[in-house]
Amino acid sequence: MKILLLGSGGREHALAWKIAQSPKCGKLFIAPGNAGTAAVGENVSLGVDDFEAQKDFVVSHDVDMVVVGPEDPLVKGVYDAFKADARTKGVPVIGPSKAGAQLEGSKDFAKGFMKRHHIPTAAYETFDGTTVEEGCRFLETLKAPYVLKADGLAAGKGVLIVPTLEEAKKELREMLGGMFGVASAKVVIEEFLSGIECSVFVLTDGKHYQILPEAKDYKRIGEHDTGLNTGGMGSVSPVPFATKEWMKKVEDRIIRPTVEGLAAEGLDYKGFIFFGLINVGGDPMVIEYNCRMGDPETETVMPRLKSDIVDLFEGVVHGDLDRRTVVFDEREAVCVMLVSGGYPQGYRKGFPIRNIDKVGPESIVFHSGTAIRDGQVVTNGGRVICVTSYGKDKAEALRKSMLGAETIDFEGKYYRRDIGQDL
Ligand code: AMP
Ligand code: GLY
Repeated sequence: MKILLLGSGGREHALAWKIAQSPKCGKLFIAPGNAGTAAVGENVSLGVDDFEAQKDFVVSHDVDMVVVGPEDPLVKGVYDAFKADARTKGVPVIGPSKAGAQLEGSKDFAKGFMKRHHIPTAAYETFDGTTVEEGCRFLETLKAPYVLKADGLAAGKGVLIVPTLEEAKKELREMLGGMFGVASAKVVIEEFLSGIECSVFVLTDGKHYQILPEAKDYKRIGEHDTGLNTGGMGSVSPVPFATKEWMKKVEDRIIRPTVEGLAAEGLDYKGFIFFGLINVGGDPMVIEYNCRMGDPETETVMPRLKSDIVDLFEGVVHGDLDRRTVVFDEREAVCVMLVSGGYPQGYRKGFPIRNIDKVGPESIVFHSGTAIRDGQVVTNGGRVICVTSYGKDKAEALRKSMLGAETIDFEGKYYRRDIGQDL
């Protein structure tokens, strides 16, 4: 098969690395990709949101399957764009339709969906520019801290957790006044939940599903979860509290009702579902849905998936995912992200990255924000490159990833040394 993967981050390098190992994959294109994906496939310069150019490419290169990495094209309707074109309607797109992607594209939709299907989540109300005062009154009924969420996609910045009622009211007014543009034309206010988070991933054909290895990501820039939020500074898989018993609760209360709910509502969904969960006193609750894999969770989930991912994608396409098998690698995996100095605030790009080839064979290097300039791999983003390692436990895996993180070198390099240590 010829496969086109959309995206350019660490998630896409991990997906590309896994897809390229499949005997079913003859040729892999990544659009636009990064310096890492160029080593496992062929990068093509197509924008992730340029559906017309993608369709032309798929037709001219006889591509058999499209796999979508990031949420943006899914929420904008890449699946529907391929279906609506006579030339590409027979080419499967792994990822939900625009309607299905609302699980991530609209927090208000996701909350309503969970309510309709009795899926455990925080109590909430949604407000818009005409109901600001009602929103303030709702805040008065809640306890601190206050959780305010922009309804639409806001590049991961649309959730505010505010300590006082006064600030919460002020932020609500600012959000509804356009703080995040149209994304905050509606705001979800919800009850604050306290617990440890865990990311659970499934692949679904719309009827059946397969559960992939779970993971936990580390979002804060500083060690011991301090400082600003980032796109993710590392991840671990497995997660110790995700025991068989806990995962059974997740499956019975959350995964199955979600997949059945999507089908019952006629939402076309053939792709990944990312359940952002929180463990509240032993019971899983949904913090958010995403319509794609997580980053940097994919960088530990893919290494722990022993099964052929292209075979699973074929199960999605043929609607027989229940007959495919998912086998986990029993080893633990830890990924450490190397970021640019200054990130998640201002940082510079274009610094040469040295010694990638000196990382030991027990680690896998996934590129996030890298590019090739004059034959040299250079930094090209805030999150630059990550090192994933296996171990018999997290301590061993972390030790190996730290060795890799020390070895790779670029100006301003920073990484956390405590990934997975709290578990
Ligand atoms: P989201 O974009 O919905 O994942 O929210 C970003 C982060 O905010 C989550 O990963 C949680 O750490 C936190 N968060 C969101 N909703 C809640 C909630 N109801 N209670 C506590 N923390 C939350
Ligand atoms: N790691 C969280 C996310 O991908 O949204």
